[in-house]
Amino acid sequence: MDVHRIAASILSADFARLGEEVRAVVDAGADWIHFDVMDNHYVPNLTFGPMVCEALRRHTQAPIDVHLMVQPVDALAQAFCRAGADLVSFHPDASTHVDRTLQLIKAEGKLAGLAFNPATPLDVLEWVIEKVDLVLVMSVNPGFGGQSFIDAALRKIERARRLIDASGRDIRLEVDGGIKVENIRRVADAGADTFVAGSAIFGQADYKAVIDAMRAELDR
Ligand code: DX5
Ligand code: ZN
Repeated sequence: MDVHRIAASILSADFARLGEEVRAVVDAGADWIHFDVMDNHYVPNLTFGPMVCEALRRHTQAPIDVHLMVQPVDALAQAFCRAGADLVSFHPDASTHVDRTLQLIKAEGKLAGLAFNPATPLDVLEWVIEKVDLVLVMSVNPGFGGQSFIDAALRKIERARRLIDASGRDIRLEVDGGIKVENIRRVADAGADTFVAGSAIFGQADYKAVIDAMRAELDR
């Protein structure tokens, strides 16, 4: 089975038609729905909360991959677990007690992820990797779709891949920001297995053509 997953970020979807957009992108071949939660505090933008997640849950069977860009983290992490999220990721620098937040997500029966900004080291992984199901390497500064991929992320992906392999655990390595057909293969070669794409998919009329082209690159 193909190890690669494409997580479509609905940040670049038409917010006035979110249910339809989610169905369309899953029909076009997206594996996961990536749900970017921004609070105008941890990041300078504001998106949607658990009620929107709950509403979208009824439109798809695809895993909902919640990416929390919020501070504080815990109450919202729990709310998203209860709103139908399958995975909940947060930024360790946004949580006062990272281990506790991870435990809280796991206690809800959900998969837990840690997200690392371009300038944030992976150090905390050494201490909590046994509680982590997903490592999310940001390849842009969080807050907006449509930014350019930061090349330094490639070295961080390689390092995260080594840490994951050394742990022997089944942990997904997701990369978020500036991923397109043109660079997805380079990101996979660095060790990523899960690819967030927002503007690259929703910025085109034919979602399936983009997702097919991404898979062709990954299979090449
Ligand atoms: C940025 C978000 C990303 C964003 C990616 O803060 O976390 O998920 O939607 O968008 P693109 O693919 O346009 O860079
Ligand atoms: Zn994201």
